[in-house]
Amino acid sequence: MKKIAPSILSADFSRLAEEISAVEEAGADLIHIDVMDGHFVPNITIGSGVIAALRKTTRLPFDVHLMIENADRYVESFVQAGSDIITVHVEATQHLYRTVTMIRELGVKVGVSLNPATPLGQVEEILTVVDQLLIMTVNPGFGGQKFIDSVLSKIRRAKELINAIAPNVLIEVDGGVTLDNMATIAAAGADILVAGAAVFGHGNYAQTIGKMKALLITC
Ligand code: DX5
Ligand code: ZN
Repeated sequence: MKKIAPSILSADFSRLAEEISAVEEAGADLIHIDVMDGHFVPNITIGSGVIAALRKTTRLPFDVHLMIENADRYVESFVQAGSDIITVHVEATQHLYRTVTMIRELGVKVGVSLNPATPLGQVEEILTVVDQLLIMTVNPGFGGQKFIDSVLSKIRRAKELINAIAPNVLIEVDGGVTLDNMATIAAAGADILVAGAAVFGHGNYAQTIGKMKALLITC
């Protein structure tokens, strides 16, 4: 069953706990949390202290997307804060195998992420030791951007590669996912669909997530 992961980057930051409860009730499968450092990406968002506070508000898994340099220095604090899945970017991680191993040894799931222009080959040697591959379909940094259509082909090729060498790895697609393009993205191979503006930009979360799930059932 394909999953919906609302990205709280587009939630009302003054009411994060309520926003998370609302999407949980509306049927979200995971909570996607975007951590940005102002170096790897041109925006600064939230850190492990906020995640620890939010951990008490929901039982949903926290899918933590690190868009930061020096991830090795911070992963332990993100695990202690209550992350269930930690994803690092190949472009920001010098010794990817070391970082992935470190995250796994801390007892949580691990993902690797590719920016839109980064070739799939950059993760080929690491796929067998991760739980998920996060494919960015916008340039990371901000919510509400337009889906980059040319990345669809990378999602399809990633699915083929995963089927061939690491069939348990899930594909997560992040950036510009909407009700209009979701079925195409899922058919291309996405298992987890991140949606920020498409969920939090509309008043009725249950209606939006319900429509998304109905679309995914047929994929
Ligand atoms: C962008 C973030 C995304 C973002 C998605 O750097 O990684 O998770 O919040 O937001 P939408 O769905 O609005 O593109
Ligand atoms: Zn993200």
